[in-house]
Amino acid sequence: MARRRKSIVMIAALLIALAGLAFVANAVEEDVVASRVPYPDIPRGQGESCVEDTDFMRRYHMTVLLHQRDDTMLKGIRSKQHSLKECIACHAVPGADSIPVTFASPNHFCRSCHDYAAVEIDCFDCHASRPDSGLVAEAREK
Ligand code: HEC
Ligand code: HEC
Ligand code: HEC
Repeated sequence: MARRRKSIVMIAALLIALAGLAFVANAVEEDVVASRVPYPDIPRGQGESCVEDTDFMRRYHMTVLLHQRDDTMLKGIRSKQHSLKECIACHAVPGADSIPVTFASPNHFCRSCHDYAAVEIDCFDCHASRPDSGLVAEAREK
């Protein structure tokens, strides 16, 4: 009995946690409809479409990225589809000098929503935040 109750509590906790996640992920989108808060101006990626369905990416890009990282770092699997380098390449935003901006710029693709949603990521302490430069090197320029 006690055991059963415990698992019910755990399932409830899990459901609440999942609902919370979905809530946060939706928050950016729903603000557009629900309020007059200015919606972030998200630069469009190149090409026709993202590596997954756009709506899916809006909500789950963090999971996709972290899975890719774990696959690469722990299992040595390297695929291009969810590589951070590919995201950066296709989502490069040209600056005034037409050179892609770094993460130091508020116009950087990855900051377009994050600044708005107060999300902080440290990925670009190590990873290049614009195309064609190796890991780490870029971080020093920030
Ligand atoms: C080949 C080019 C390409 C690659 C590679 C790519 N994207 Fe995209 N991405 C796009 C395009 C184009 C759109 C807009 C699609 C649309 O409007 O339906 C988009 C949309 C998005 C959006 C939603 C933006 C919005 O307007 O709400 C997110 C988030 C995103 N991409 C993240 C990523 C991440 C993270 C990666 C790497 C894992 C990645 N993308 C790789 C082209 C790309
Ligand atoms: C302390 C430095 C550091 C930080 C911070 C960091 N990474 Fe990495 N990451 C690495 C290194 C080193 C590799 C292995 C490089 C390789 O094998 O290409 C790697 C590999 C990856 C890969 C697999 C290679 C690729 O491009 O697909 C992904 C995806 C990735 N990291 C995503 C992230 C994300 C997302 C964040 C932020 C939440 C992050 N990393 C933060 C150092 C870091
Ligand atoms: C369409 C808006 C949007 C774009 C564009 C976007 N993000 Fe996000 N990102 C979010 C939101 C909203 C969250 C918080 C969601 C949550 O906590 O569940 C988030 C969370 C994350 C997280 C997890 C942070 C944490 O501490 O849990 C990572 C990693 C991340 N994003 C990486 C990226 C990268 C890398 C890019 C650029 C390639 C990017 N994001 C572009 C909206 C976006």
